[in-house]
Amino acid sequence: MKTLEHLLTPIRIKSLDIANRVVMPPMGTGLGNEDGTVSEANLAYLRRRARSGAGLYITEITEIDPVGAVAPTCLGIWDDTFIPGLRKMADIVHAAGSKIAMQLHHCGRESLYQTRKRTAVAPSAVGSFLFGFIAPPREMTPEEIQQTIRAFGEGARRAKAAGFDAVELHGAHGYLLMQFLSAFSNQRTDEYGGDFRGRARFMLDCLAEVRRQVGDDFPISIRISGEEGIQGGYTIDDMLTIVPDLVKAGADLIHVSFGTHGNAKIYTDTPNPSAPIEYAPGFKTDLARKIKAVAGVPVITVGRYTDPYFMDEVIARGDADFVAVGRQHLADPDFLINAREGRSEETFECLACNQGCIEREALEGLPVRCAINVETGQELIYPTQPAQPPRNVWVIGAGPAGLTAADEAARLGHKVTLFEKEKQIGGQIRYAEKAPHKAAYGKWIRTLAARAVKRGVDLRTGTEVTEAMIDQNDPEVVILAIGADKAECPAPGRTMSVVCDAWQILNGEVPPREDAVVIGGGLVGMETADFLCQQGIRNVTLVEMLAKPPVRPISAHGTMLHRRLAAAGARLMFDTRVERIEEGAVIVSTAGVETRLAPVGQVIVAVGVTPRQELKQILERKGIRHVVVGDAKHPRRIIEATTEGAQAAWEI
Ligand SMILES: Cc1cc2nc3c(=O)[nH]c(=O)nc-3n(C[C@H](O)[C@H](O)[C@H](O)COP(=O)(O)OP(=O)(O)OC[C@H]3O[C@@H](n4cnc5c(N)ncnc54)[C@H](O)[C@@H]3O)c2cc1C
Ligand SMILES: Cc1cc2nc3c(=O)[nH]c(=O)nc-3n(C[C@H](O)[C@H](O)[C@H](O)COP(=O)(O)O)c2cc1C
Ligand code: SF4
Repeated sequence: MKTLEHLLTPIRIKSLDIANRVVMPPMGTGLGNEDGTVSEANLAYLRRRARSGAGLYITEITEIDPVGAVAPTCLGIWDDTFIPGLRKMADIVHAAGSKIAMQLHHCGRESLYQTRKRTAVAPSAVGSFLFGFIAPPREMTPEEIQQTIRAFGEGARRAKAAGFDAVELHGAHGYLLMQFLSAFSNQRTDEYGGDFRGRARFMLDCLAEVRRQVGDDFPISIRISGEEGIQGGYTIDDMLTIVPDLVKAGADLIHVSFGTHGNAKIYTDTPNPSAPIEYAPGFKTDLARKIKAVAGVPVITVGRYTDPYFMDEVIARGDADFVAVGRQHLADPDFLINAREGRSEETFECLACNQGCIEREALEGLPVRCAINVETGQELIYPTQPAQPPRNVWVIGAGPAGLTAADEAARLGHKVTLFEKEKQIGGQIRYAEKAPHKAAYGKWIRTLAARAVKRGVDLRTGTEVTEAMIDQNDPEVVILAIGADKAECPAPGRTMSVVCDAWQILNGEVPPREDAVVIGGGLVGMETADFLCQQGIRNVTLVEMLAKPPVRPISAHGTMLHRRLAAAGARLMFDTRVERIEEGAVIVSTAGVETRLAPVGQVIVAVGVTPRQELKQILERKGIRHVVVGDAKHPRRIIEATTEGAQAAWEI
């Protein structure tokens, strides 16, 4: 029987009582002030998350030394001046009835910011996989090592002074503590290098110093990567040999994460500790279970958890004592409340797309958001009061942009009618959800539609808005979210019977055939090729005009797509144009040299989409107030569609 009983059982660590087994793990937000102090945006973000009712919240990386800061907006704890701001964070969590730990951090070599400034330090002068091409870090001197150990202790002392209930040392994900642990980054020959035990010494000394500075009764957590997750990296068996020492040195809690920063080529497992959707919830629980067996202190497991009932099973089995729920806290911080109140179907399940969160921060250098939750990272501007005056709003198009606009407008008290010309809602998500591993996208869009209707949106599917309708009804204000339509293949021969488009393949309208050529290597083309391979279609070739893959292998989803296509033997041809389609063949050219691809049983066009323009001119001509959002404005991604849809609803 489904229960939350085990998940909601309190637990005590030293004299700290924690109400339940849900942890919000550390998540860097990029919302801090440029001097490392806590901003109003940090507080608003935390206030919203603190309503989830998790037992324990762990702050984002908080830097114990300015040279250990990943970026200027990372929170700092290297000076007493940070204490007042940080105390506000502790107060917020305490007011919500939960407990808060501070994650103490030093990035070592893993920072673009420090690498560019040439201030990065590390156990050895070995360049990071990500930033080493700019410059290697400087090897830490023995004195610097001792200073850094003391700085961890001082950070912990300040956290305690700021009212925090515990601290966590960040010993995972390839940052400084783990750089010491890893043979790839630690080539020292002194007592902080050598074999695994020698390399673990820095972590143990940091723990011991933290214990010295906070006293015996203050709980200390250590976050570790249970395994390094790269070829030749340390394994869980290596890690198990030092777990008793971690406990002896001061750890009261072990937070078992996995993986390191690295190069996609050498990853043996998930390309990212924030695993993509291909990985099932709890896919690394075995690491926690093994550590728990030897630790004698509670352990936290982490990795793609979204469903509280499943988390309950993990606790009930005794695999771990806590479950950390990261991105689900961004996608929908009400997941636990909804489960407790028997309304789990209302929860937005995290898509593990990383689009608004970790990859927005790491690859785009922008603060945290969420592709499907428009409040996340925008708490300071997210309207909570009813709109004045409430208006009669027409939203046209029920894709991500229109549904978000309608839902938000209804939340604010507007009278909303949402028109969708198709029988089903979802727009392009109806196709996206058919690609391998993307069923969760469909679940999200239907949950969004149900929420909008519950909030009072009058949803009219199968209703195409026409000029006549606009004339008859004269809407007060229109949010135009009519999306984009598939672009036509530019190559001669596009009308031949073997030619279809990606949308027809994904929705099952055209059955896939062997010897397929997909034209276009954007996300839709790549996912269609992936779909074909999943269906067992042999001999799949993808042709893309651009020299570099538009779907970057550096993103987690991109890595998985490229890996899967390579494993299935699909042929990806970049920097290659389709010249013409002939009977049973496709003629392509690379650098002016023509190649005949044959035999070809099917040609699938995925050359992008173009914005639908039709209603915009009509609204303009009639002088009706309107705003164009999402792909109708310019074809992009889900996050732009939801952001613009919400913005329009907030501003009408
Ligand atoms: C296969 C596939 C996979 C994708 N995967 C991803 C992904 O992983 N991540 C990502 O970020 N993006 C992805 N995208 C892109 C993403 O789906 C779009 O960016 C997003 O759907 C745009 O949302 P929208 O609401 O602006 O437009 P759309 O989704 O195009 O919705 C527009 C809606 O308006 C309706 N409409 C049009 N005209 C009228 C009218 N006159 N009256 C009433 N209704 C009308 C349409 O029927 C449609 O339902 C994918 C797209 C496809 C096709
Ligand atoms: C936006 C973002 C920022 C993160 N920042 C940190 C961090 O500051 N410290 C840390 O230890 N892990 C960080 N992580 C990793 C998470 O704590 C967590 O381990 C990871 O997201 C997997 O959990 P999930 O699948 O529940 O999201 C971050 C993850 C995300 C998505
Ligand atoms: S952006 Fe994607 S991965 Fe990140 S929290 Fe939102 S849904 Fe989850």
